[in-house]
Amino acid sequence: MLEGPRTDRAPRDPAFALTGSHIVVCVAGGIAAYKAAELVRMLDKAGATVHVAMTARAQKFVTPMTFQALTRRPVFTDLFNLTEEATIGHIQLADRADLVIVAPATANSIARLANGMADDAVSAMVLATRAPVLIAPSMNVNMWNHPLTRENLAKLVSVAKYQVVGPGDGFLACRWTGPGRLAEPADIVEAAATLLSTQDLAGKKLVVSAGPTYEAIDPVRFVGNRSSGKMGIALAAAAKRRGADVTLILGPSAVPPPIGVTTNNVETAAQLQWALENASKGADAIIMTAAVADYRPASEAKEKLKRGALGQKTAIELVANPDVLAELGRARKGTTPLLVGFAAETEDLIENARKKLESKQVDLIVANDVSEPNAGFAVDTNHVQLVDHDEVTDVPPASKAEVAHRILDKIVMMFGEERAPRGKAKPKAVAAAKPAKPQKLLAAKSTGKAKKRR
Ligand code: PMT
Repeated sequence: MLEGPRTDRAPRDPAFALTGSHIVVCVAGGIAAYKAAELVRMLDKAGATVHVAMTARAQKFVTPMTFQALTRRPVFTDLFNLTEEATIGHIQLADRADLVIVAPATANSIARLANGMADDAVSAMVLATRAPVLIAPSMNVNMWNHPLTRENLAKLVSVAKYQVVGPGDGFLACRWTGPGRLAEPADIVEAAATLLSTQDLAGKKLVVSAGPTYEAIDPVRFVGNRSSGKMGIALAAAAKRRGADVTLILGPSAVPPPIGVTTNNVETAAQLQWALENASKGADAIIMTAAVADYRPASEAKEKLKRGALGQKTAIELVANPDVLAELGRARKGTTPLLVGFAAETEDLIENARKKLESKQVDLIVANDVSEPNAGFAVDTNHVQLVDHDEVTDVPPASKAEVAHRILDKIVMMFGEERAPRGKAKPKAVAAAKPAKPQKLLAAKSTGKAKKRR
């Protein structure tokens, strides 16, 4: 019987999923082999200990020296090389790995792996390891579409330890256009981080709003604010990494939304409210990071307003937008969905956050002093306080990605608590946070037959 993936390693802090991990990157012989160098560099930069195994054909595209220089470690190329086996025995590497990545995985290598071959550095590593194996296919579009390739890949993923990332669609080196491009190294890195993260939001549906809203004055001008969308996008990406089903309602933003997250682009507060209402059905939590414009012009001019026609002094009449979060709080029956608001403040941070917690009838306010340097609007870092009905918790200054994970830690804890309806009274009892649901890869049980003495 085929062994499942290893179950003896604790899931990692999702904010630092790759730090301190052992990853073996297996490079097969395809033109995308050069992109494996960038992948290895990114994994190394993220704090992983990276080893590289290469097939003989891969060495025709990139030399082992490239990977040796990037990893500062010998590269595993020959199963029958006495020196290599003495220094980095392939079974030792396979055992120590937290994750094995095959990138690029060519049609040939997928066929070989699917048939349990183990006669070169890559196939032996993949067969021997009990770590999860992430396959990143890359090949000609017709090879990719061939039923035998599909059958081989289906055979691989029917075994619990194998997962696939990509391929991407586009112009291929063989001059065909279509699916077959190696997934972008950043996407492979994210898939790797997901595989190594705790999946404590698996089975949860989260809706996150992000970015500003633009309220039109005329066809070219608008009332808006400085939100870049970075904080909300970081939250959506972090929740996705932890296994949640995430919908992102995104105002105008130059930041690309995360892969694997359903994104609804909106422009105005009214559009945001409509999209949020639709997305919120069955949601377990709604996180309102968006900087929704409180007011909009009473009317929108059909044509561009002319400077001459407005004179030296003019005024724009504004009307109030709905308070989307407060309406969600008012409409909520019971305690689901969990409602999380932000408070962008420039004074009396905690006092104002507490007022919003009560007036909007929500469970948690992320208080953000936007006058603090390197916090709030548009920057890549943030410093927030988590204000709930019981306590205030400081989240120290960090990247928006890390801050997002600390906010989600709190949300995971709150999912495990019994909350009073509408969050007005104190919770009656505090239960332990629900244990993380094991992800597909980590769920399969080992037979225990192949235990190795250390
Ligand atoms: O996008 P970035 O550049 O990364 O910046 C991040 C951020 C500063 C925008 C973010 O961290 C933040 O603080 N978001 C909340 C901005 C805001 O509108 O705060 P507020 O205090 O005005 O609103 C309180 C809450 O009510 C917010 O959750 C807001 O989404 C919501 N609201 C506000 C007005 C409105 N009409 N409807 C709402 O639902």
